[in-house]
Amino acid sequence: MTQATERERGSAPAGAPDAARERATALPLAPMAEAASGPSAAGAAVSGASRAHGSSGAARPAPDAPKLEVQGLSLSWDGRPVVADVSLEVRPGRLACLVGRSGTGKTTLFHAIAGLTAPDAGRILLDGRDVTGRPGSIGYMLQKDLLLPEHRVLDNVALPLRLAGVPKARARSQAQERFAEFGLAGTERLYPSQLSGGMRQRAALLRTSLSGADTLLLDEPFSALDALTRADLRQWFLGQVERLGLTGLLVTHDVDEAVALADEVLVLAPSRAAGGAATIVGRVAVDVPRADRAGLMLTEKALHLKAAVLRLLGEDW
Ligand SMILES: Nc1ncnc2c1ncn2[C@@H]1O[C@H](COP(=O)(O)OP(=O)(O)OP(=O)(O)O)[C@@H](O)[C@H]1O
Ligand SMILES: [Mg+2]
Repeated sequence: MTQATERERGSAPAGAPDAARERATALPLAPMAEAASGPSAAGAAVSGASRAHGSSGAARPAPDAPKLEVQGLSLSWDGRPVVADVSLEVRPGRLACLVGRSGTGKTTLFHAIAGLTAPDAGRILLDGRDVTGRPGSIGYMLQKDLLLPEHRVLDNVALPLRLAGVPKARARSQAQERFAEFGLAGTERLYPSQLSGGMRQRAALLRTSLSGADTLLLDEPFSALDALTRADLRQWFLGQVERLGLTGLLVTHDVDEAVALADEVLVLAPSRAAGGAATIVGRVAVDVPRADRAGLMLTEKALHLKAAVLRLLGEDW
């Protein structure tokens, strides 16, 4: 995988500066087109995904079949292997957290899962359909929130709908309907610089949600926040995942956060067997119902779970 490959795929204008390129690639297009036709973007997108599946003539997946599957994914930059033979699956309505040290290849992996770069090997399945190298099916919140400073919050959030061809007034009103749900009522006419960090993150999450996908990749969505805001936003986020029936794969450096949020923690770390490239070196199931998550971090169980993750990361626990 190289930058040229990324550009050839048409995911971003050649020569675009990084931020502009990321902006161009952040917003999945196919589900947004689905979102354009329905009364509520999220609702339309969920049914849109089903329609797409049905129209392909493929059998509907069994209810317990994985929503997202990554099979044997290997990725390199300029010939240097970064990620090797990564396999994972996330079942519908579940949240998996990918934890790994800085530079191990989490964002590289996410770009490939989102279809923005072609892997050297392996494939990505969504609802059993091969979506390898095809952006548009999976919502992707990038590591930086990338709100456009010169646009009001409402227009930032409505951007996926606009890109899907929804007329401006309708895109604004569809986006506006979701502001209260994301705790953003009253911020519509502000500019991103006038929002707090937590509000910016929620605006970015709302924008990702309006992309219409029911499966989300979230790259360190809460990293820029103080500990208290983070804890609040995590609980709020879990409520949204539950309420909207979303399936998610989330990157975090924070082991506490992974244990607090995930149904399963996946640990990505360099492996000698893979010639130093990163792979999933272990998994820790967090078998705690969402309703009991708020108090989890104060329990002995949380300590054991964190110790298990830290051991896999190579910490001396
Ligand atoms: N565009 C690029 N061109 C060449 N190498 C890259 C590029 N992007 C990332 N890399 C390299 O790939 C490796 C993994 O980077 P990546 O950004 O995926 O790590 P990460 O796990 O997301 O790190 P962090 O936790 O700091 O965000 C690093 O060695 C990085 O230098
Ligand atoms: Mg990263």
